[in-house]
Amino acid sequence: MRALVRETAPLLAEDLIMPYFVVETREKGFMREIPSMPGQFQLGLDALEKRVDSTPGLTTVLLFGLPADKDEKASGAYAEDGIIQQAVRRLKALRPDLLVITDVCLCEYMSHGHCGILTPEGIVLNDATLPLIAQTALSHARAGADMVAPSDMMDGRIAAIRASLDANAFTQTPILSYAVKYASAFYGPFREAAESAPACGDRKSYQMDPGNAREALIEARADIAEGADALIVKPGGPYADVLCRVRRIVDVPLCAYQVSGEYAMLRAAGLKGWIDERAVMLESLLCLKRAGADMIITYYAEELLREKLTR
Ligand code: PBG
Repeated sequence: MRALVRETAPLLAEDLIMPYFVVETREKGFMREIPSMPGQFQLGLDALEKRVDSTPGLTTVLLFGLPADKDEKASGAYAEDGIIQQAVRRLKALRPDLLVITDVCLCEYMSHGHCGILTPEGIVLNDATLPLIAQTALSHARAGADMVAPSDMMDGRIAAIRASLDANAFTQTPILSYAVKYASAFYGPFREAAESAPACGDRKSYQMDPGNAREALIEARADIAEGADALIVKPGGPYADVLCRVRRIVDVPLCAYQVSGEYAMLRAAGLKGWIDERAVMLESLLCLKRAGADMIITYYAEELLREKLTR
């Protein structure tokens, strides 16, 4: 009876997107646990293949790259043999049916750790950054990415990426836009994982103010107008109200990102025995679906699938 009247369906395997941090290294089998995210790893290419191969039911991954070298123009982000480009080729060869989404951003590739080009005074140049973002997305598509997910939050990037994909015969490659991305302290562990913390300043000039919810609607509408095919709201749980509001005004698929800090908190309390981690984790994901998410990026995806906690 309860199932009959339930408003939100339990998690499906295909709702889940697993993020991976891929490291450019010569070390065979490289795998390093991320201290602030127990159970999550920085992975070399062969370790990545192994993890994907040993997770039955995994349908979709999101890739972040850690290049061997960084510079002031993020060359590694759009290099033909960059770490993400290599990872995409390897995964698509290994599992052609796997949906490979790439995070399109420059922060992991910039020596200063910002998501765009920086002036000597430390100001991020929005418009000068757009061609690099578009070039990065195109190089991911060329490597075989099924979908690109720009997370830089520069204004106008969706239009720039769409134009560059279309001009190069990638009219069929969709854009999953991080349309609503807050300047959040919940990203702390990620910056350790991706080695992408800004060397100076913060991301408040391009990411959103946590106090603003109506602004999220402006961002969402703008990205759809520029050609986004699906939108991400991020972080997830603490911004479920924003997700719910965005859901009411857009018809494209919506994705919630349960970010590194959310994972770290649940895992830490779980390891301490202070909460029933599995129950809280399942509830937190169900809540994101209830708030309006069609799909969820979560560091728990692998575990959920391995332990057959989805339908
Ligand atoms: C890159 C990016 C970040 C996250 C996803 N893409 C970090 C940031 O903006 O500082 C955060 C994801 C997480 O915390 O799990 N710009």
